[in-house]
Amino acid sequence: MSKKTWAGRFRKKTHPLFEAFSASIAFDCRLAEYDLLGSIVHAEALFRAKLLSRREALAIKRALAEMLTEWREGRFRLDPGLEDIHLNVERRLTQKLGPLGGKLHTGRSRNDQVALDMRLYFRNQTRLAIQKLEALARVVLDLAEKHQSVIMPGYTHTRRAQPVLFAHHLLAYVEMFLRDRERFQDLLKRLNFCPLGAGALAGTAYPLDREFVARALGFAGVCRNSLDAVADRDYLLEFAAAAAIAMVHLSRLMEELILWSGEEFGFLEIGDEFATGSSMMPNKKNPDACELIRGKTGRVVGALMALLTVMKATPLAYNRDFQEDKEGLFDAADTLCHCLEITAAMLPGLTVHPDRMRQAAEQGFILATDLADYLVKKGLPFRQAHELVGRIVRHCLDRGLLLPDLALADLKKFSPKFQKDVARVLKLETSLQARSVIGGTAPRRVRQEIARLRRRLRT
Ligand code: ARG
Repeated sequence: MSKKTWAGRFRKKTHPLFEAFSASIAFDCRLAEYDLLGSIVHAEALFRAKLLSRREALAIKRALAEMLTEWREGRFRLDPGLEDIHLNVERRLTQKLGPLGGKLHTGRSRNDQVALDMRLYFRNQTRLAIQKLEALARVVLDLAEKHQSVIMPGYTHTRRAQPVLFAHHLLAYVEMFLRDRERFQDLLKRLNFCPLGAGALAGTAYPLDREFVARALGFAGVCRNSLDAVADRDYLLEFAAAAAIAMVHLSRLMEELILWSGEEFGFLEIGDEFATGSSMMPNKKNPDACELIRGKTGRVVGALMALLTVMKATPLAYNRDFQEDKEGLFDAADTLCHCLEITAAMLPGLTVHPDRMRQAAEQGFILATDLADYLVKKGLPFRQAHELVGRIVRHCLDRGLLLPDLALADLKKFSPKFQKDVARVLKLETSLQARSVIGGTAPRRVRQEIARLRRRLRT
């Protein structure tokens, strides 16, 4: 086993069980690039503070750049005995440069170092999530545009409620994904501050130019309190929360695709590329991609809960508990990204069945509200109209009839306010057109919304 960088004050070696337990290298090796980039800028800051000579700084920066190439080319061999990525980077540097490599850690602690690496890593992941959300929103928008005239039943309580445009339903998801995008954009504002210079907790005793380091690494500024800089994981909590919410949106969409592609609904079909068969039943086509996305929502929600639980009751400043921020959050970021990609790839291959949707909308009493609204227009208070149409629905249910089956004479028995023009009301198209408020399902409105969302997605 390699000698520990911190072995000085210890008499005994680490227990092998604990050594393995404590190591994070298996997962924090993901931070390698960021650790190296942060180290290059730190070396420059040490030079500017006259803590390294020009020649020393150059040698260190050159060696770190070499290591970056080694890492990218898979030639950087990690030593699992060295706990984490930070110690691995330092050890490799010392192998290259001898004792000079030991100067890099001047004025820096692994506590501010890991905080820096995580902020850099999740800054990238946040930007990636924003891109993927935009791409998905575009795909959903395209689908809405393609099926602009398809009518389907809208639901509450999973019961047919009022007719809506399929496109209107899809645009609801565009709204969700745009809010998700905004959540990630917003957390970026709080994440983008540089913790380096905090040292272990109290602030470095060396005259390092923190503002320079922050600028060089693309941060908007520096963390203003050294204790907070090393103890803060809010940006990860926010990332996990934004990811969990986005996953919940995906999961709801997947749930609908699963239901709608099933025999009972038959509203649409999922492309073969995103379905699987059964090992036993030759007839089966299963919506596994959708189910997996719905299922993976659990791990992302779990990552948020896990990190909230890790952070609660940790005193300031750094605690080793924080190492537990990594696996769950890395997994949450990967999972979100994959699920957004899969969804965007799957949606264009849906086969929509407008006839089945329309049929479902024509059955039942989906126009009952429109009938009540008709009576309101003829002067009846809404409550009375509601009651009266309720009785008409009851009447039909008892006789196995639908609303359009009733003749004008039948309707007149319930109210003399019913006239010949009621026939127009009992049409799906009329119901849709009536809902022309902002945000309503009227075809004209939905067209406008598609155009508005297109513009929003362009910027
Ligand atoms: N692997 C550690 C983590 O993820 C790095 C920081 C270690 N700092 C320490 N004082 N042990 O948090």
